[in-house]
Amino acid sequence: MIVALVGLPGAGKTRIGRELADRLGYSFLDTDQMLQERLGAPAAELFERLGEEAFRDEETGSLREALSGRDRVVSTGGGTVLRPDNRRLLREVRVLGLTARDPQLLSRLRGGRGRPVLAPNPADRLQILRRDRLPLYEEVAEAWFWTESAPVRAVERIRDFLALRRLAPGVYFGRGARRFAGSFSGFGRTLLLTQPPLVDGWARSILDSLSYGERQVTMEVVPDGEAAKEFGVYQDLLRRMAHLGMTRDETVVAVGGGAVTDLGGFVAASYMRGVPLVLVPTTVIAQADAALGGKTGIDLPEGKNLVGAFYPAQATLVDPETLRTLPLAEFRDGLAEVVKCGLGLDAELFAACATWRRPPAGPALDFALERAARAKLRLVAADPKEAGDRAKLNLGHTAGHAVEAASGYQVSHGRAVAIGLAAVSRLAERRYAFSHAREVLELLRRLGLPTYYRGDPDDLWTYLVRDKKHGSHGFRMVVPRRIGTCEVLRVEEEEMRELAALTCTPPA
Ligand SMILES: NC(=O)c1ccc[n+]([C@@H]2O[C@H](COP(=O)([O-])OP(=O)(O)OC[C@H]3O[C@@H](n4cnc5c(N)ncnc54)[C@H](O)[C@@H]3O)[C@@H](O)[C@H]2O)c1
Ligand SMILES: [Zn+2]
Repeated sequence: MIVALVGLPGAGKTRIGRELADRLGYSFLDTDQMLQERLGAPAAELFERLGEEAFRDEETGSLREALSGRDRVVSTGGGTVLRPDNRRLLREVRVLGLTARDPQLLSRLRGGRGRPVLAPNPADRLQILRRDRLPLYEEVAEAWFWTESAPVRAVERIRDFLALRRLAPGVYFGRGARRFAGSFSGFGRTLLLTQPPLVDGWARSILDSLSYGERQVTMEVVPDGEAAKEFGVYQDLLRRMAHLGMTRDETVVAVGGGAVTDLGGFVAASYMRGVPLVLVPTTVIAQADAALGGKTGIDLPEGKNLVGAFYPAQATLVDPETLRTLPLAEFRDGLAEVVKCGLGLDAELFAACATWRRPPAGPALDFALERAARAKLRLVAADPKEAGDRAKLNLGHTAGHAVEAASGYQVSHGRAVAIGLAAVSRLAERRYAFSHAREVLELLRRLGLPTYYRGDPDDLWTYLVRDKKHGSHGFRMVVPRRIGTCEVLRVEEEEMRELAALTCTPPA
């Protein structure tokens, strides 16, 4: 891996870069140093001697060379980002930004001696650099690290950050990932949204981890569960942001289950036509599904998720540790979606689930969550606006949605999905030579999930035909074909009726 450090002069690129390289067992290169070695004079002098244009040409040469190896930490000269070509080169590697407040930067630079870009008045000059270069650093940097504490602390944080798995651009997975919300949320005001059970625990600790430098963080607690997604809550939050005077580059951080990430996402999507968004999902459903893929939204009295937008988060921090406090019922609900991903999208994930004797914990849980998240992200990448294959995520949801609605939402989403998975697996066994229905049913039972609905098929039918998947093209159904593979099929009414019947029949 190549890690390039960017930031204003004095942010610590050389010092921290060297220690980081040491810690990672990587080599360290400093592009200014490389220039000096090649041309026999310090960067400051070369800048004067060659003039800016020729100096920058040399700098591009050093950068290209530095980024061409492997397992390196590269400290980049402060002006490297000025050139689009250099920014393009940087996009190929992991770029981290280092930052500190001006007094700290100035004191580190000891008044700017030896730094050509800071003469003659370092304080004024730093302001100008901040204005001109920071947006360019932001364009290339994946995450930001505060370097005012002892360098060793910054180095440790960066190392822990790099140890997270990056599942997709901006999606990080791993124990402790929640601690990095501050690396993505700018340095101005931040609105932290959460739900009641998290206030004194996860949300508080994230708030503390965000509170450094000049950042002001305001925590807003929204009603628990689906009530968070009411229009009034949404409106209150927008007004709150306006009262706080939040601007377009200030961030919304949403910490919670899918209700909070959906709401927070839509707030961020719509306030001033879009502000940066950081998601810290804390339920299995949110970690494996809701917080991934950019769908945000709220409800109307007329229906769930009727208002929303596709809006990507700047960062999504998936931290399985936060599931420790999740009630078992919620945990099981989420596992139904994980089983769905295994059954329809990832045979290896299903095989792992099939070994569970009870709801998983530790590495087994982490493995499953990561695989489920990756499966969803793959579909999203191939079909960002839900025009095709993304519909495969609805495996088990045709009957599932109908069960939820028919029960007056007494059956939770996850339990309804489990019922839906069981029903469609049995249907596929009858009609599509799917031979693993028994395994699916047994797994669901071991996880404490239901496999059929104690209701009336005719009643369920009325909800099935209302489902939005029943478009002008007849009925659509997602059907498992083998373990790890499913297909979106167009089916006749008769087949849907069979699904309704199976959903309400206890399996043998
Ligand atoms: N945008 C999408 O693509 C997408 C996909 C799936 C679901 N969703 C949405 O997600 C929502 C359902 O998600 P959910 O099940 O996470 O709902 P939720 O946010 O209501 O959370 C469920 C419950 O768990 C509590 N909780 C959350 N994290 C906790 C923790 N770590 N410890 C203890 N308690 C915790 C919550 O306070 C709540 O009571 C629905 O609104 C659904 O529409 C969206
Ligand atoms: Zn679902």
